[in-house]
Amino acid sequence: MSPTLIYIFGGTGDLAHRKLIPALFNLYIDGYLPGPFRIVGIGRTEMAETAYRQEMRKSVKEFSRRPELVAQHWTKFSRTLHFQSHDLNNDKAYKGMASEWKEFQAKHGEEAQVVFYLSVAPQLAPVIARRLHQHKLCADPHRSRMVFEKPFGHDLKSAQELNRLLGRLFREEQIYRIDHFLGKETVQNILALRFANALFEPIWNAHYIDHVQITAAETVSIENRGSYYESSGALRDMVQNHVLQMLCMIAMEAPISFEADEIRNKKLDVLQAIRKMHPEDVHRYTVRGQYAAGWSQGKKVVGYREEKSVDPQSAVETFAAVKFYVDNWRWKGVPFYVRTGKSLPAKETLITVQFKPAPDYAFPEEAAHTWRPNRLVIGIAPKMDIRLRFQAKQPGPHMTLRPVDMVFSYATREQEDCQPEAYETLLQDVIEANPTLFMRADQVEAAWTVIRPIMEVWADKPPVDFPNYAPGTWGPEDAEALIARDGFNWATLPETHPSEAPVKKKKS
Ligand code: BG6
Repeated sequence: MSPTLIYIFGGTGDLAHRKLIPALFNLYIDGYLPGPFRIVGIGRTEMAETAYRQEMRKSVKEFSRRPELVAQHWTKFSRTLHFQSHDLNNDKAYKGMASEWKEFQAKHGEEAQVVFYLSVAPQLAPVIARRLHQHKLCADPHRSRMVFEKPFGHDLKSAQELNRLLGRLFREEQIYRIDHFLGKETVQNILALRFANALFEPIWNAHYIDHVQITAAETVSIENRGSYYESSGALRDMVQNHVLQMLCMIAMEAPISFEADEIRNKKLDVLQAIRKMHPEDVHRYTVRGQYAAGWSQGKKVVGYREEKSVDPQSAVETFAAVKFYVDNWRWKGVPFYVRTGKSLPAKETLITVQFKPAPDYAFPEEAAHTWRPNRLVIGIAPKMDIRLRFQAKQPGPHMTLRPVDMVFSYATREQEDCQPEAYETLLQDVIEANPTLFMRADQVEAAWTVIRPIMEVWADKPPVDFPNYAPGTWGPEDAEALIARDGFNWATLPETHPSEAPVKKKKS
């Protein structure tokens, strides 16, 4: 691995505390960081390096998946961690970085590489990009990379403008647009499930699949992110990126190789095949919601409109449900129902593939009372499992059927501890220059194109019934109706059965 210098713009921000530094720490412990490695957190406020290290130690202890290893490894790891305070509008900052980068290169030779991680407010990204270009900090396309956090644009037009700007300044292969869901083990496993098993692929199409559901539910409210969320909403925050990416993994054709562009091309095909909604269809195919004040998880919670930095008349949605169609040969007529929201009853991301019902004519009517169609349910997080529902004979003298689940669980396979967090996988990919799990410019734009009609109609017609769902419930009633109209219901995960309980972590 090449010696690497990594700058984190937004080095004192929430993401650095909760995800980036804990991820780098875990990569370090597992030996996945290159020998010569230097992390520089960049923030606005002055702070001594020792104070920064102490702050980060606390965060790693709190947010790392292996806090018990901090005592043993922190001192060594922290030697790679530095802090600089800069005004990012000022040339001085970039001159400093340029000479530091030169020194690093002089010390470690041609192999050395530099990564700029932009975990900053969206309006700062173009400013930083221009300056990096101006100071020739990304002049070598093979040795310099930039990572962009979402949101990547606010709509199609702004995403295109940003892509055009970056395209003028850098090569596409230097630009890493993060969608952290793609780093999740369970999301990557969809490719293994689909393409490494001969079992599923032959029936993975409109002949056998009835419909697909994707749920990305959260119990949390917007958690002090009022000003960000007011300019976003559930559709932009979750559907445009994470949910559509999961849909792509389910719907894509088999890649001919695992080359980054091959996978990304196949996913792009899906985005381009998603039917663009006519404005007059938007109300039929979508539902939006906003949580009211009430009780959630046994706690009293304020309504969205009473949250900090939120307009008391806000029309921003905290829940979205959409019915999509993928208009290609494989998926003709198969609905893809997706829903996501804040303040829902469970933290649960899952994908449900429901197969067409088997003909039941051979069984006596009483045998088939509890007959249910086959279902493949992929638990993405926090439950990480795959369950296949099929019919079995109820033990006893009569031929009575009941649905049973065959479950593969990552946790019960004692793999819990070895699972890298999404950010670990993604940071490692950046360091190793592997862009497979990152969004290419055309993918981002295609995803904005998919949701554009919804955004436009929702903006044109402000909701009249907001807030329209109580916290701790599954969103507005219309979301049930969206799927019930077609004769289905939203799938949720069953409570954990004792035999599936996660294996207790061993003390190290
Ligand atoms: C982020 C959204 O991208 O994903 C948040 O901005 C959301 O609003 C988060 O809470 C969910 O991610 P995860 O990995 O916790 O499911």
